[in-house]
Amino acid sequence: MSNIHEGAKPRSVLHIANAIIPCLDPDRLSEVLAVDGRIIACGPSGSLDIPTQAERVDAQKQRLFPSFIDAHTHLREPGHEYKEDIASGLSAAAHGGFGAVLAMANTKPVNDSASVTRYMLEKAALHHPKGPRLLPVGALTVGLEGKELAAMGELAEAGCVAFSNDGRPVSNTEIFRRGMEYAAQWGRIVIDHCEDEFLAKDTHMNEGARSCALGVKGQPTVAEALHVARDILLSEYLNIPVHLAHISSSQSVELIRYAKERGIKVSAETCPHYLVLDESRIGHYDTAAKVNPPLRTPADVEALRAAVREGLFDIFVTDHAPHAAHEKEQPLDEAPNGLIGLETALPLTYALVRQGILCEKDFIRMWHTGPARIFNISVNTFAPGDPADFFLFDPDIEWTPGRDTLHSKSLNTPFLGCPLRGKVTAHWLGGCEMLCYSGTTQTA
Ligand code: DOR
Repeated sequence: MSNIHEGAKPRSVLHIANAIIPCLDPDRLSEVLAVDGRIIACGPSGSLDIPTQAERVDAQKQRLFPSFIDAHTHLREPGHEYKEDIASGLSAAAHGGFGAVLAMANTKPVNDSASVTRYMLEKAALHHPKGPRLLPVGALTVGLEGKELAAMGELAEAGCVAFSNDGRPVSNTEIFRRGMEYAAQWGRIVIDHCEDEFLAKDTHMNEGARSCALGVKGQPTVAEALHVARDILLSEYLNIPVHLAHISSSQSVELIRYAKERGIKVSAETCPHYLVLDESRIGHYDTAAKVNPPLRTPADVEALRAAVREGLFDIFVTDHAPHAAHEKEQPLDEAPNGLIGLETALPLTYALVRQGILCEKDFIRMWHTGPARIFNISVNTFAPGDPADFFLFDPDIEWTPGRDTLHSKSLNTPFLGCPLRGKVTAHWLGGCEMLCYSGTTQTA
């Protein structure tokens, strides 16, 4: 420990005491020592040699998780800053437990050129120099129009970690194939928004008895499944990985199972809302629950939850998609798709741990090691030298999402006003505290 007392410059020393660190030992209390933003040591409570100048945080038996990754976020800047901007989106991310977010390309202008990528990275560095990290996703095609591949090499060199046409599927399979191939050349993966654009055109909810009863044009699950099947076949044929975005239906789950059983290099994500809400939520033409792909039937929800239990999904993502009140407060067929999710994701998915659907280790895999592996992102693993990126989570705190508790600019969530259980109470990135911890801290 002597090295941390040396040197003229005062050093920042952080000691998290009395934490449950499920990555290390879920059954007893542990402690962490970090110096100048890096982890020096972790161990059972009372086992570390703690320097006197350490700032001590008593975690009071809360969970200490490594900062999570949201691999599917819409930050809206540039172009739609009235919905969200990089500063507010990253702030919501930090409060939600995320130390890195993959920012989708459907900005205005679209992130299909290095200048847009650089703009996003500069804004993130300006507003959140310590993080959360913004990891740009480059557009797969120019203007997301699906007609011509974007300058993928330039985008990768500028810092894009993956490619996607998210929000607008690529119908031309030849272009999609070439996109997968070029992405692989750059060591990147394509994230596909799986949707047959013809079957999905002008649809506003799931297709079925409920959409008929409401008189609303619905999107059949086969619109998603067709592209899931296409991508699986392409991945097998090319022997190139592909990542399937926001999976919503049992039909897609069956196809993913087929792919995984054959060892095809397909990874898949689903979102908290598809695991807890079904199409009935839109029963009163509630635009807060209008999202694409749409909320499906209770049977689909059950199939997705069973797939999570079975380990078929590689990751959870939020698909955080902010929209302003004046946009959502329109008739169902005019309101945009999307809901915010950065700050509600953890309470919603930790409920699966409580319900025995996921163990805590798998909960961490879904939000941390899974995305880190698929997108090749370096993360804290609580090893000496790792960045001191971690957050405290109290699974038992009850709170209600609302204007006073959320940090996103937009409030478009069907969970607004609904009590949730589980909250991030403190978050450090590179050892710096991102949100104020109201528990016990003391500096010697
Ligand atoms: O609901 C959605 N909203 N789905 C998408 O694919 C895009 C997103 C958005 O950008 O609003």
